[in-house]
Amino acid sequence: MKTQSILFLSLFLVAVLLWATTGRPIAPIYIEVPTDEETALSSEEAFHKMMDVLTHERCVNCHPSDNVPKQGDDSHPHYFGIGRGEHNSGYQATNCTTCHQTENNPYSGVPGAPEWSLAPHSMRWEGLNRFEIAESMMDPERNGGRTPEETLHHLTEHELVLWAWTPGVDAEGNLREPPPVPLDEYRGAVEKWFEEGHKIPSK
Ligand code: HEC
Ligand code: HEC
Repeated sequence: MKTQSILFLSLFLVAVLLWATTGRPIAPIYIEVPTDEETALSSEEAFHKMMDVLTHERCVNCHPSDNVPKQGDDSHPHYFGIGRGEHNSGYQATNCTTCHQTENNPYSGVPGAPEWSLAPHSMRWEGLNRFEIAESMMDPERNGGRTPEETLHHLTEHELVLWAWTPGVDAEGNLREPPPVPLDEYRGAVEKWFEEGHKIPSK
């Protein structure tokens, strides 16, 4: 009993001594680690990081300038004569969702995500440069009447967008390439660009 109280007393004394000499109460030391490295990006850097994704085939293959979806890293026209059809979901006999399920099919190589369909003609990005894509994306006349907030939400949450980071394998069993920026970094860049007023840098 006695040795225990002596031990406590001396620990207490050591603490008081440390406090007295350092002038600081004894408390765990927290080192400030920036939780969001993207806050360090300028608006222009954030724009380019975001556009490195939007100009990638995983996005542009579904945002064609004609009526034909594109396939693969070489963006060749979709096999089997697949076309836009009346409501961007293909023709009756070859509706997109006849083949494209809500998930990738690892056996047939058909990519999948809920409501797989072609982006409407007004949202065509194929052949546009990154500045033109950004202009189109922010233009309510072409983007489906979205407010900036709705576009931000679409860019960071929509299932067809998120599919690009888990694109599965193609018909030959080869992994499709995801966009060149990891998903969390991309999301940080998109949020930063919108926060800073979504300014499109001059070309
Ligand atoms: C499977 C086809 C498909 C893929 C893949 C796809 N999109 Fe889309 N996208 C669509 C469709 C369909 C719409 C229209 C949805 C609507 O209006 O409800 C759309 C609309 C959009 C819009 C809103 C319209 C606009 O112009 O602002 C944005 C932004 C967008 N897509 C970004 C992307 C990005 C970024 C990727 C890649 C990471 C991507 N999409 C991949 C089919 C696709
Ligand atoms: C007859 C079945 C079938 C139909 C119908 C079909 N697809 Fe596909 N689609 C495929 C197959 C199979 C692949 C995979 C080819 C490959 O990558 O080797 C594919 C791949 C794609 C890709 C390529 C993704 C990428 O980035 O490489 C896109 C985009 C696409 N389809 C869009 C559509 C759209 C939009 C429709 C409707 C207008 C549609 N498809 C209708 C079978 C189909």
